[in-house]
Amino acid sequence: MLTDSPAWKNLETLYQDTKHTHLSDFYTMADDRNADFSITHDGLTLNYAKTHIDHAIRNALIDLATQQGVEDWRDKMFAGDKINNTEDRAVLHVALRAQNDETYTVNGRNVVPDVHDTLDRMERFVNAVHNGDWTGYRGKKIKRVINVGIGGSDLGPAMVTQALQPYHHEGIETYFVSNIDAADLTAALHGADADTTLFLIASKTFTTQETMENARSAKQWFLSQEDATADDISKHFIALSTNEDAVTAFGIPADNMFPFADWVGGRFSLWSSIGLSIALSIGFKNFRALLGGAHSMDHHFKSAPLQDNMPVMLALIGVWHRNFRNYGSLAILPYSQYLKRFPAFLQQLDMESNGKSVNRDEQKITYGTSPVLFGEPGTNGQHAFYQMLHQGTDIVPCDFIAALSPIPHYEDHHHKLLANMFAQTTALMDGRQTPDPPCRHFDGNRPSNLLLCDALSPHHLGMLIALYEHKIFVQGIIWELNSFDQWGVELGKSLTKSLLEKIALGKKSKHDISVEDYL
Ligand code: F6P
Repeated sequence: MLTDSPAWKNLETLYQDTKHTHLSDFYTMADDRNADFSITHDGLTLNYAKTHIDHAIRNALIDLATQQGVEDWRDKMFAGDKINNTEDRAVLHVALRAQNDETYTVNGRNVVPDVHDTLDRMERFVNAVHNGDWTGYRGKKIKRVINVGIGGSDLGPAMVTQALQPYHHEGIETYFVSNIDAADLTAALHGADADTTLFLIASKTFTTQETMENARSAKQWFLSQEDATADDISKHFIALSTNEDAVTAFGIPADNMFPFADWVGGRFSLWSSIGLSIALSIGFKNFRALLGGAHSMDHHFKSAPLQDNMPVMLALIGVWHRNFRNYGSLAILPYSQYLKRFPAFLQQLDMESNGKSVNRDEQKITYGTSPVLFGEPGTNGQHAFYQMLHQGTDIVPCDFIAALSPIPHYEDHHHKLLANMFAQTTALMDGRQTPDPPCRHFDGNRPSNLLLCDALSPHHLGMLIALYEHKIFVQGIIWELNSFDQWGVELGKSLTKSLLEKIALGKKSKHDISVEDYL
């Protein structure tokens, strides 16, 4: 039992020994704390100096990682072992960013050549769309790309496309439709010309209710345009999926499908053909740079000693907060408007992966797993929920994220942006020790991490995403979870289906259905 293990017990003791030490005392304990409690790799720095972690606690956390076999499990993942035990699948999104002379094996077969074949096909397609070799049914260049997908088939691509706005290819506008609420689709179709619009139907399974409903409505919309025929679908509908039968049954020709393998989990799929909307938005050179950044983080994760390993330390800080200091949530606070969808993306990555209460052996567990994640870009969040972060009754650890280089011509904005962020980390740590009046007293003692990258380039964004992917993997190993299934989500899907079938029974038309039928 994890909670009876020596490493866990040692951490409980260390918590008891330090629980009354104020964070600012940790911070002032050593002059070189910022250097000592930082890790830098390839232009990305994690600074965790403002946490209640000293050398003894760090060593004890590393002992926990060692005890739980983090390195062995990491090696199993990279070796293509079927560590997703409930679905009997390998977990190999790292192979999607492998260089073509590397080898990743699933069932004894090197999968890297297939990955590169698909990447090369995607590149030819993106270039053809950009240079006008691929046109709509009336011979016009594509201007609007609409990605139809949900969960991992939406959040990653939407977040990255938003984050890399300065790299956008001129002449292409990208929209994302995910919600079954028709408000989403109608907004993306508003002002669209059928002959210059390209739909990417992104779904690993090609069965997800929301995506298929939106895809059917998009097809209907397209076919309702003047002189558009079923043959023209091949010019306007692309499938990103693992399920060729369902793609062709829907009416998209197999040649228009960009495949990926079942060892790519939905929430880890932006690096696969699911990322086609990203590549169409930023061009293929930049898409390859995104993959290159993730690859750099993979290499670091595979090779750096635990204490210098950024994903491992970020995970261990989270375990210290969740399981020993009993903090139940985590605020993701990018000081970058470009990263405004990053908290939503991380919600799925973390909470769908580690929001579990049984372990890999299907035993009920008694310790906390995924925290509740939420966040907004700074400085906007400061004028919304930061009051609670500073003076609320719950302590919420924060990840502050920023790029150090300014947006050209706006250096003053950037200095103010960074000054706000650093001021927040100090305010959270030190508080304000004035007894009078009590409403102006702040305990402080609230921990935060800093993640700083040189610039929000495709390379560094790739690194940042892979950092959190591996962090969540490490936490899953420590908590003894399978981070790669999502049975809770499946329950909601099947209950919706039964409810729809039940209320349809005996009704002559959809117009006969009333709210009472749903209750
Ligand atoms: O939300 C549940 C889920 O299964 C996610 O894991 C996945 O990213 C999403 O649905 C979409 O699935 P698909 O890509 O198969 O449409």
